Amino acid sequence: MAESAEVPDGGTPADHISGDAQFVVVANRLPVDKEILPDGTVHWKRSPGGLVTALEPILREKTGAWVGWSGIADSDDNPDDIPGIEIFAVPLSTREIAEYYEGFSNATLWPLYHDVIVKPEYHREWWNTYVEVNRRFAEKAAQAAAEGAVVWVQDYQLQLVPKMLRMLRPDLKIGFFLHIPFPPVELFMQMPWRTEIVEGLLGADLIGFHLPGGAQNFLFLARRLAGQATSKGTIGVRSRFGVVQVGFRTVRVGAFPISIDSGDLDTKSKSKEIRTRAAEIRAELGNPKTIMLGVDRLDYTKGIDVRLKALSELLAENRLEASETVMIQLATPSRERVDSYVRMRAGIEQLVGNINGSYGAVGHPVVEYLHRPIPRDELIAFFVAADVMLVTPLRDGMNLVAKEYVACRSDLGGALVLSEFTGAAAELRTAYQANPYDLEGVKDAIEVAVEQTPQEGRRRMRALRRQVLAHDVAKWAESFLGTLDSTTQTAPDANRGVHLVGRGESGQDT
Ligand code: ADP
Ligand code: G6P
Repeated sequence: MAESAEVPDGGTPADHISGDAQFVVVANRLPVDKEILPDGTVHWKRSPGGLVTALEPILREKTGAWVGWSGIADSDDNPDDIPGIEIFAVPLSTREIAEYYEGFSNATLWPLYHDVIVKPEYHREWWNTYVEVNRRFAEKAAQAAAEGAVVWVQDYQLQLVPKMLRMLRPDLKIGFFLHIPFPPVELFMQMPWRTEIVEGLLGADLIGFHLPGGAQNFLFLARRLAGQATSKGTIGVRSRFGVVQVGFRTVRVGAFPISIDSGDLDTKSKSKEIRTRAAEIRAELGNPKTIMLGVDRLDYTKGIDVRLKALSELLAENRLEASETVMIQLATPSRERVDSYVRMRAGIEQLVGNINGSYGAVGHPVVEYLHRPIPRDELIAFFVAADVMLVTPLRDGMNLVAKEYVACRSDLGGALVLSEFTGAAAELRTAYQANPYDLEGVKDAIEVAVEQTPQEGRRRMRALRRQVLAHDVAKWAESFLGTLDSTTQTAPDANRGVHLVGRGESGQDT
């Protein structure tokens, strides 16, 4: 029988008050990933993905605890000291990794929330393990948090934690932020455990999405699903703009577009070392007229195939000259045991091979493809070196890479080609935007970006930088945590009139 997302077992709420952290981040991953080297030694490396990029600097600033998984099976090792961050590792078994992480999180929720680019799979065993593991995260968070602490739960892997944690620790202030898109109602309704997920999220005091569209989708679902009569009775949910009333509790819902530590990247990208390295990269590539760059986790949502197909056709149509063009694709390995990722990798590598086979010369491939994570400083040098940045996801909650590129271009050089279906598109209006499903449109955008005049490039980049430097990740966290802090749980009417669906109103998170 499928498990329900009910209260974790074990004792009264008071039994769980044991931590002393006033601020706790709960995320599937720790900020660092454990790696066991061939000689058996343990090495901790930066975890992949935008969530860690965004949150790590916030936690360093604030000091607090981070509850998460180390990235390998059956390990509850804590990484060596990370200044300002107390680590609470949550161990996962091989079965749990297969069913909770690779299964329910990344073969059910991830494709469902990203417009079903790949067909989501629904398996009851995966759901049961998702419930079990969410419960373990909730218990660990309850251990870490001091009385009355703020606990900030992150992302789609942990959507049941807010409710579970509230049952264990009603004294806590609980926020939840979703780092990926929240899907349109018609798609979400496929989910067999849709009511449990919505109720899980409603355990939070504040639920944040990147864009107003996601917040609106959720508000609609909360009204439709959580208010329904169930075998356990009706919880009585009412929602209106930005607020859901759950019995006597008020849950606020809003849009908080995430960002990056733009000031830090701006400073680093201006350093002599980075500038020198960027010039070296260009020279190593044979000083081509145009360097194009893609930087992604190797994920089917990122549209890496779209940009490769566009490049291939532009070369075939003589709209780009192979001898003058290099495209660098940096791809971090990701979710390598999930079938759809295995298939996608094979497809991308075949496209790279085809382009190089048809248009490359000995010692001068057109596409330089690296399937590994790149050290941060080296990545900044790539951003500085690139004339055209290609960000072409079929769907992406935000896409921090687009913002990172802009933050690294204090020289006002470069051009950004950006998919309309990223959260970033709502803010980065003067990028060369394109619909990734319209290959001709993507080709046109790339061609115009390659051929832009320096004046036009500067005009666009100046506007992009204004946005990215003014709205950095510290502002994002301040805005979310400030709103959470002002949330009161007294009278049901206490928050009347709060309008949270705000900044980035033009976004299209549908
Ligand atoms: P996602 O969170 O889906 O991976 P984002 O674009 O929001 O996508 O964030 C990705 C983060 O990972 C960025 O900080 C980016 O710089 C980093 N990253 C992506 N690809 C690489 C790579 N090949 N090497 C190093 N860092 C990478
Ligand atoms: C995205 C997700 C994160 C996730 C990251 C890396 O940014 O929103 O929750 O951590 O990708 O994916 P992984 O599966 O390696 O944790």
